[in-house]
Amino acid sequence: MGIQIAPSILSADFARLADEARAVSHADWLHVDVMDNHFVPNLTLGMPVVESLAKATDQPLDCHLMIEDPDRWAPGYVEAGASSVTFHVEACRAPIRTAREIRAKGARASMALRPATPIEPYEDILAELDMVLIMTVEPGFGGQKFLDVCLPKIRRTRELVAKHGLDIWIQIDGGVSAETIERCADAGADVFVAGSAVYQADDPNVMIDKLRDLATN
Ligand code: DX5
Ligand code: ZN
Repeated sequence: MGIQIAPSILSADFARLADEARAVSHADWLHVDVMDNHFVPNLTLGMPVVESLAKATDQPLDCHLMIEDPDRWAPGYVEAGASSVTFHVEACRAPIRTAREIRAKGARASMALRPATPIEPYEDILAELDMVLIMTVEPGFGGQKFLDVCLPKIRRTRELVAKHGLDIWIQIDGGVSAETIERCADAGADVFVAGSAVYQADDPNVMIDKLRDLATN
């Protein structure tokens, strides 16, 4: 395990995705935000783009599905080349079945929570997951301000994971920067998505290294 930094290509230039993936070669994973204009008020990309990206880069693709009906679509993203697939529990009718299907196809299964969604109702299904994504902004757009109100949930999730003796990543997404990452790491997060902080930096790889150092110390 260990700290993972996952730049979000939502803040990249979509006309040059392969180059933009190469520009973050120090990253551990590449975070791919899939939005359908229904679950969130924004539209990005889908399976064909993930499939092309998987061919264009060696980096593991961490697909974050901000879509309705992830039960239907999530397994297809594994086939498209994702290493991990995250579904939003607010949109998912059968999270256990969906997680099992993702895992059966060979990817990590991950469940995302919007800022106001509590972790406690899902305690018993943590064992079905490889990762929990705790959103620290309302999903939909890059460049939003980090919500400190989500920090206690990171801590509670880490406690529940420890209580059940599980080995699960806790991923944070939204407003992660050199100013906010230490708070998240202290609370128990170990996978950090950063879009604007990385792609707007003078040197994205220097920023990735800096974020990793801050989260490690
Ligand atoms: C937002 C996306 C994030 C986004 C984060 O809904 O899920 O992955 O790219 O962008 P920053 O890091 O700029 O908040
Ligand atoms: Zn995301």
